[in-house]
Amino acid sequence: MSKSAVRLGTEPSWTFPMQGDNHFTWEYDQGRDQLLTLYQKGKEKQWDSARRIDWSLEVDPYDVLGTPENTLALYGSRQYDRLDDRARKEMRQHMAAWEFSQFLHGEQGAMICSARIVESVPDMDSKLYAATQVMDEARHAELFARFVDEKIGLRYPINPHLKALLQDALSDSRWDMPYLGMQVLIEGLALAAFGILRDRTDKPLPKQILTYIMQDEARHVAFGRLALRDYYTQLTSSEIAEREEFVIEGCYLMRDKFRMQEVWETLGFDMKESLEYMNRGPRMRAFRSLLFARIVPCVRDIGLWGPRVRKAYDDMGVLDLATSDLLKLMADDEAQAELLDRERRELEVRRDEVHRIIAAGARQN
Ligand SMILES: [Fe+2]
Ligand SMILES: [Fe+2]
Repeated sequence: MSKSAVRLGTEPSWTFPMQGDNHFTWEYDQGRDQLLTLYQKGKEKQWDSARRIDWSLEVDPYDVLGTPENTLALYGSRQYDRLDDRARKEMRQHMAAWEFSQFLHGEQGAMICSARIVESVPDMDSKLYAATQVMDEARHAELFARFVDEKIGLRYPINPHLKALLQDALSDSRWDMPYLGMQVLIEGLALAAFGILRDRTDKPLPKQILTYIMQDEARHVAFGRLALRDYYTQLTSSEIAEREEFVIEGCYLMRDKFRMQEVWETLGFDMKESLEYMNRGPRMRAFRSLLFARIVPCVRDIGLWGPRVRKAYDDMGVLDLATSDLLKLMADDEAQAELLDRERRELEVRRDEVHRIIAAGARQN
């Protein structure tokens, strides 16, 4: 698929048993309008990364996103101060490799989860829509694999906590749990991370990748939100409490455990100091609350909004995010992708014009 990169980790694959029932339905004609509209959009908006992304753009593997030094996670720590220039560059490459590798593995997880949803969800409208998402996630996995291997040149294995979360979501026989774990929690986190990087980077290739992927992800979040909101109104309070517990645990895990431990280990950094700094450093604290910008309003919208969930979000300092308008955020993600397409087209027209003028000038001389 793409040229080989240095690969850390030795595990070539990962298997665990599947749970739950396959679900066929013979009700082909009872689709909900909103879900069928989303399905239609899912079909129309497919795109090919080989053509839509300009792979000729160069990427500096030691400065993938053009991140200013003072926004790096360990900036200001004693560990960071001990590094010379070469070690700092190496750290940047490893951090970008770790981050984009987790996106890559997460996309594979999303592909497997949406395939599972096709099999297990009771309604035909959800099956149809989820089938388009399988293809979206396949394209995303293809795209991140190419970016990591060709442009960063270094690939990290899956983070053990991401792995645990995926396994939890996929090992549950209840059909809504892969949705909740994947569509709401993991995708919600990934989407917020994509958004932060998209808005911060001034490098054209990662900008294109993140902007276009976010255009698709807006549909995925809308789907999880619609399908779960309907279903959760039918559950008993103890069934709701179980889902709320899952959300709370998942959110704490994502807040506390994604600390690039593997990077600090690989580079031989002082582990205790690095992890502590990741926990209490000013940049990471602000970054972590931004990471919940998509999850919190979604959890509220699907009706998992009991006192325990609110208390947990209050404790994490992210309760205020509940009032942000998810639909507006998603519409904005789609608009940004369209705007980028327009700007690139205009740039191409201008370039063609310049070439024509130069060629005409050469002919006259
Ligand atoms: Fe995706
Ligand atoms: Fe997705």
